[in-house]
Amino acid sequence: MKIFLDTANLDELRKGASWGIVDGVTTNPSLIAKEGRPLEEQVRMICDIVDGDISAEVVATDAKTMIVEGLALAKIHKNIVVKAPLTRDGIQATAALAKEGIRVNVTLCFTATQALLAAKAGAYIISPFVGRLDDISTNGMDLIRSICTIYKNYGYKTQVLAASLRHPIHVQESALAGAHIGTMPFKVLDQLFNHPLTDKGLDQFLKDWAKVFQESGATR
Ligand code: E4P
Repeated sequence: MKIFLDTANLDELRKGASWGIVDGVTTNPSLIAKEGRPLEEQVRMICDIVDGDISAEVVATDAKTMIVEGLALAKIHKNIVVKAPLTRDGIQATAALAKEGIRVNVTLCFTATQALLAAKAGAYIISPFVGRLDDISTNGMDLIRSICTIYKNYGYKTQVLAASLRHPIHVQESALAGAHIGTMPFKVLDQLFNHPLTDKGLDQFLKDWAKVFQESGATR
């Protein structure tokens, strides 16, 4: 499964990229607004940090303007994936942009039938939101499983991007379900490293090593 960072924060992206395991970035209007720079400027800076798919979202709500915005976003950098919401206009814009060879990430997906529409429109990525469904007492991971099954049944090429992941178990279950991509906040990526037995084991290895090779003055 590809790992994307779900942030527009440059410090988080630099840190994540330095680990060599980040395949791409997802942003949305809320995440871009949090950083306080114009969309195009922020997205260019992100493209300089991470070499992979970088999703940048349109903010228009009518298909015609979404297409104009999408074409402009796609021109910023070769790695830009245009993000469009799963509305009637968003799907119409997705179909038009896909015909022009523009890669579209259809976002705000909450049902498997919405995902079917995105695939039929030629979306490059579908983004089902796991955490936001869990928040309203609906199992978000069931949606990932359903979409993966439907796409497999018909051989759709659209990649399933498990979004709105809130903790490491969401990441694990997305991978088990067969999601192509998991996007997560920096905090969740950082949590994936942790296990107390890793820390305990390393501590013991270093103590044993020091006892023989440092306290005795011997060298390895
Ligand atoms: C994905 O592309 C979305 O930006 C994101 O995963 C939403 O996550 P949230 O529900 O934690 O805001």
